[in-house]
Amino acid sequence: MNIKYIESTRSFKIDTVHTSYVMGVVDKEGFLGHAYYGRLIPDDDVNYLMRVFEPPFTPEKNERDRLSFYDCFPFEYPTHGIGDFRESALRIEDEGGHAANKLIYKSHEIFKGKKKLPGLPATFGDEKDSMTLEITMEDKEAGIEVVLSYSIFEGIDAVARSAKVVNRSGRKVKLTKAMSTSFDMDDRDFDKITLYGTWAREKAIDRTPVAYGSQSICSKRGISSAQHHPFICLLEKNADYNKGEVYGQDLVYSGNFRTSVGRSQYDSVRLMTGINPEDFSWALGDGEEFYTPEAVLVYSSEGLGGMSRTFHDLYRQHLIRSPYRSKKRPILINNWEATYFNFDEKKLIAIADCASKAGIEMLVMDDGWFGNRFDDNRALGDWDVNEEKLKGGLKYLVDEVNKRGMKFGIWFEPEMVCPDSDLYRAHPDWAIQIQGRKPGLARNQMVLDFTREEVTDYIYNKVASILKSANIEYVKWDMNRPLCDLGSAELPAERMGEFFHRYTLGVYRLQERLITDFPNLLLENCSSGGGRYDAGMLYYSPQIWASDDTDAIERLKIQEGNELIFPLSSMGAHVSDCPNHTVGRTTPFRTRGHVALAGTFGYELDVTKIPEEDRELIPEQVKMYHRFNDIVREGDYYRLASFSENGDFDSWMCVSKDKNEALITAVTVMKRPNVKSRNVKLFGLDPDKKYCLFKEDGSDYTDGMTGYGTDRKISGRTLMNAGIQICEGWGDFQSLLIHVKAAK
Ligand code: DGJ
Repeated sequence: MNIKYIESTRSFKIDTVHTSYVMGVVDKEGFLGHAYYGRLIPDDDVNYLMRVFEPPFTPEKNERDRLSFYDCFPFEYPTHGIGDFRESALRIEDEGGHAANKLIYKSHEIFKGKKKLPGLPATFGDEKDSMTLEITMEDKEAGIEVVLSYSIFEGIDAVARSAKVVNRSGRKVKLTKAMSTSFDMDDRDFDKITLYGTWAREKAIDRTPVAYGSQSICSKRGISSAQHHPFICLLEKNADYNKGEVYGQDLVYSGNFRTSVGRSQYDSVRLMTGINPEDFSWALGDGEEFYTPEAVLVYSSEGLGGMSRTFHDLYRQHLIRSPYRSKKRPILINNWEATYFNFDEKKLIAIADCASKAGIEMLVMDDGWFGNRFDDNRALGDWDVNEEKLKGGLKYLVDEVNKRGMKFGIWFEPEMVCPDSDLYRAHPDWAIQIQGRKPGLARNQMVLDFTREEVTDYIYNKVASILKSANIEYVKWDMNRPLCDLGSAELPAERMGEFFHRYTLGVYRLQERLITDFPNLLLENCSSGGGRYDAGMLYYSPQIWASDDTDAIERLKIQEGNELIFPLSSMGAHVSDCPNHTVGRTTPFRTRGHVALAGTFGYELDVTKIPEEDRELIPEQVKMYHRFNDIVREGDYYRLASFSENGDFDSWMCVSKDKNEALITAVTVMKRPNVKSRNVKLFGLDPDKKYCLFKEDGSDYTDGMTGYGTDRKISGRTLMNAGIQICEGWGDFQSLLIHVKAAK
C-alpha cells in the first residue's frame, strides 16, 4: 500500500496490493485527470492514457476549439457548465444564479490514517493500516474549493473516495449537485450489473451492456430502497464470478442516491455516484463546508468473486464497528411470522420455553408490544409497553426469558408515527407533511421529522428508557415507508432542498447515540426487509434483515445479490414455517436451514406449533451453526453456481482464511430426471494441501462413491481444477452441505 506524488509527471499514484489508481495534473490550466485504474503497474508516466495530446484536442495548440477538449478530457471530478457536456459531479449556483465552475489543482496532502466524515458513516482506518491522499482543487474566480479524498487500506484492493466542498467566496452559494465520485475510463466496452427489486424480492441481479448516453439507477424514497441499491459494477464482456476484469462501486449512504454510467461520443465511460441531485440543494454560507457521503471503488481481475471478497474484507475490517462484528451472533427466534400482532407474555414465554430447549439463544419480540398496537393501523410513536398485552410488564417478560437461558431483543420503528397515536395527537407538527394538504399514508403511518433535534431527542429518550427498563440485548430497528409530501415545520423555504439529506443525517445521529450509550447492544437494521440494507447502515449495525421473504428458494436469489457486496456475517437470514408466508411454497426444513446458514441464522416461526419432525431438526441445525459459522462469518466467499443464472441449481462455498476448512452448500431447486450428479469446481483452497470431504453429520462424503481414491484425500489442485460431484437428492428443493477439511 502506498500513495505518492510523482513530481516529474505531476501524477498521483495510489497503489494497493494488486491495483494502481493514477491521476495526473495536466494542461496549462492544471486540470486533474484520471489516467488509469486497474492491475498494479510500475511508476511509469501514463499521462498519455488521458489522450490530451492527440489532435484535434491538443489543448495547448487549440484555443479556438477548447470546448472539444473539455468535452473529452477524463476529469477526475467534472463540474457543470464549462463545456464538459457529459454527466457532471458538481453544480453550484452563485447569487446571480450562474452555475459554471472550473476546478484547478491547488495543493495536496498525503498522510497516514483516515479522517472521519462528520455526521456520516464511512470506512475507518488508523495510521498503521490506512493512508489518505487529499487533493485540493479550486475555482479561484468563484471562491470555491473542493477537497477530493482517497483512502486505501493495508491488504485490501479498494479505494474509498469522498469530496468536500468549501465556500470561500464571501457570499452565499447553493449546491444543487455534489456527487461523491466520478470516474472516467477510456474506450471500454463493458457490461454493467445493478441490483433492482421490490418488497420481498430485493437485490435481484441485472446485467446489461453499458450503452451510449447516461443510464442511471436511483432512489427518491428517502432510503436506499428495495427498488435499487447504490451499487454498480462494470465488467468485461467475458467476466463472470471467477474471471475477468471488474470495477465495483458502492455508496456508503442510506438516503436518496443516484448512480450513473454511460459511454460518450469517444467511447469513454463515466461512472458516478452520490446523493441524488433531484430533490437536493444545500445552502452553503461563506466559510461553510459540505461533505459528500463516501463511495468505495473496488477493482478485481478475478471476476465478480474477487470484487465481492474485497468488499467483504473491507466492510468487515473497516466499516462495521460493533463489538459483534467478528463474533458469532446469538441464534435468535423472532415472533413476527409466528404470531404477527396476536401475542401476549404467555405466548412469548411458551415460545422461549420450547426454543431454549432446542438450543435457540435469543427471543426477539417484534411489532405489537407497545401502546394500542393491536394491528398495523395505529400507535407507532407510543413507545410505552402495553401491559394489558404483556401482563407483569416488560421486565417480568425479559426476566422469564433470561431464566430460560435466553437473551432478549425488541423491535422499534423509531422514525414513524401513526395519525392514530398519542404522539401524533400531542405533536402533529412533528410528522412530515405540507401544511394545508392531506399527506399520503403508507401502512397507515407517517414519518417523523428527523431533521429536528427535538424530535430525535424525544425518540431517543423513549427508546433508551425501554432499553434501561430490562435486560435487553438486541434491537431490531425497522423502517416501513418511503418519504413523500416533504414538509417540515421548521426548515425555511430556502433550505427545503436539504430535507432528504438532513433526514438521513438525523437517522445516523440517533443510531450513533444509541450504540454509543449502549455499547454492547446488538443492533439489526431493517426496512420492510432489505429496503435499507446498505453500507451506510452497516456502520451502525453489524447485521441487517435481508428480506421479509424467508422462502428458501426466493432467498437464494436475494442472498446472491447481497453477497456480491456484503459480508455473509451481516445478512439477516432465518428459517421460517411452511407453506411460506410470502410465496406459499413448501420446502424441506433442512434446506431452509442450509440457506439461512449463509447469514446470521435464526428462526421466524412458532416453534410450539411447527411439525414435530421439523422441531426435532432444530438442535441439529443449532449444532451445524456453531460448527460452521466461523467459516461463514470470517471466511472467503466463492460462488460455484447461480440459480439466478441457470434457473435450477445454486451452490456457494466459504473458505477459512488459513485455507484449512471450507463449507460448500448446494441446493437443487428443480430435480432433473435421470441425472446422477453435477460437477462443481471448488475455489480458494491451497493447491498443495490434501483435503477430505465430509457430510453435515461428519461422515465421509465420498463413502460409497468410486473415483475419490483409496485414501480419500484429494489435493486442493484437483478439487479446484477437476471439481467434485454433487449428488442430487430425491425431489425438488433438496440441499446438502459438504465440509472440506485439510487432511492431517
Ligand atoms: C417489516 C419487517 O421487515 C418485518 O420483519 C416485521 O418486523 C414487520 N415490519 C413488523 O411490522
